[in-house]
Amino acid sequence: MAFTFFFRDEQILSLAVQKLVPLTMGRSNVQILNAGCAMGMETYTFAILLAESMGKFALRNVKIHAIDIDNENVDFGKTVTDGIYHKEHLQRIPADLFQKYFSPAEKEDYFIVSPELRNLVQFQKYDLLTLKPLRNDYSLVICKNVLLHFNYQQRIEVITMYHNMLLNGGLLIMENTQSMPVELGPKFKKLVDYAQLHEKI
Ligand SMILES: C[S@@+](CC[C@H](N)C(=O)[O-])C[C@H]1O[C@@H](n2cnc3c(N)ncnc32)[C@H](O)[C@@H]1O
Repeated sequence: MAFTFFFRDEQILSLAVQKLVPLTMGRSNVQILNAGCAMGMETYTFAILLAESMGKFALRNVKIHAIDIDNENVDFGKTVTDGIYHKEHLQRIPADLFQKYFSPAEKEDYFIVSPELRNLVQFQKYDLLTLKPLRNDYSLVICKNVLLHFNYQQRIEVITMYHNMLLNGGLLIMENTQSMPVELGPKFKKLVDYAQLHEKI
């Protein structure tokens, strides 16, 4: 099972929400890719932050496509795809947000994500290294703690694919330990000094 947790890297995810929301104003179709979503904790963290910032109405126009190579992660005994998590995994969620977006599931000690957030997310098994673009209209790609699994050439290929899949002005988040390969410098503008948030040029 992959290492991940709810509200990991909240600061950079919140910053992405801040930058994304103005880009989505007046749009009825906003697509987001969460690449290497593991068991969906990052996906639902982002969905919660987005819901808090956008409100229910605008949220209806958003879809989050969450992909991972590992079936065990994206399926996780079907609980992840159903938005169901054991209480142990939910402890880092701020209490008010937990109250707002989770309710008890049928199974004891398990909780289910609210339908409004579940409706945003579609999980899919997918290997990034096939380099087959999924869509070409993403406004944001979140790819954290994934690129470190790849060699330098593979990183260039995967980030180039992200560039092709993003709309002009679309955003890419990578983990902070990753920097943009110099070869791709002309394709992206780094938006802040302290995080790997890039805008497609
Ligand atoms: C350390 S987890 C990161 C999870 C989450 N993004 C986070 O930051 O908490 C890395 C994830 O990348 C996935 N991954 C590794 N290689 C991949 C590939 N070629 N295609 C898609 N996902 C991949 C792994 O299965 C794993 O779930």
